[in-house]
Amino acid sequence: MANISGYALANATSLNTFQFLSQHPARAQRFAAAMATTSPASLDALSTHFEWAQLPANSTVVDVGGSRGHVSQHLAQKFPQLSFIVQDLPEVIEGAKDKLPETVDKGRVDFIAHDMFTAQPVQGAAVYLLRYVLHDWQDKYCIEILRNLIPSLKAGAKVVIRDHLLPEPGTMALLQEMQMR
Ligand SMILES: C[S@@+](CC[C@H](N)C(=O)[O-])C[C@H]1O[C@@H](n2cnc3c(N)ncnc32)[C@H](O)[C@@H]1O
Repeated sequence: MANISGYALANATSLNTFQFLSQHPARAQRFAAAMATTSPASLDALSTHFEWAQLPANSTVVDVGGSRGHVSQHLAQKFPQLSFIVQDLPEVIEGAKDKLPETVDKGRVDFIAHDMFTAQPVQGAAVYLLRYVLHDWQDKYCIEILRNLIPSLKAGAKVVIRDHLLPEPGTMALLQEMQMR
């Protein structure tokens, strides 16, 4: 169950982390601000480990669970032929479009509130990106998130997942393992 976690215990809640954040919008915004401190090296890795430049002109990338758009901003600046739709919970994306830096072409980075546990509303995008989204959820929820994409996928669409792969327990130094988990 997603609501049985250290986070729930620490916050004396029976909600899952993101339901709890939804009820505390200031904390949801702070969480999003923390997400945006992601390392430039990690963003660069994302921009080089997939052939974004090979996507046809005017392709749409849907950034599922994209927070306030820091990843889409980065990719939009590097790949001017692409447009981005950032999806996240309403309290997370609130006001995000207005806060995009001047250097980003606002016409190419849009935001829509969307709960990824419901059917994907954007049909026929070239790419559905999930960066650091699935690692928050147990497998059964990941399956639900991914299944919700299926009806919107056109032939040749890509689902790009950028995330950590966990090694089996006990196969690496304890400190490293604690950090990863
Ligand atoms: C670990 S953050 C990753 C953010 C961003 N993709 C990145 O790479 O930094 C997970 C994101 O999933 C979003 N999220 C959680 N539950 C969601 C839901 N039901 N629907 C849409 N987004 C959700 C959170 O608000 C958060 O922005």
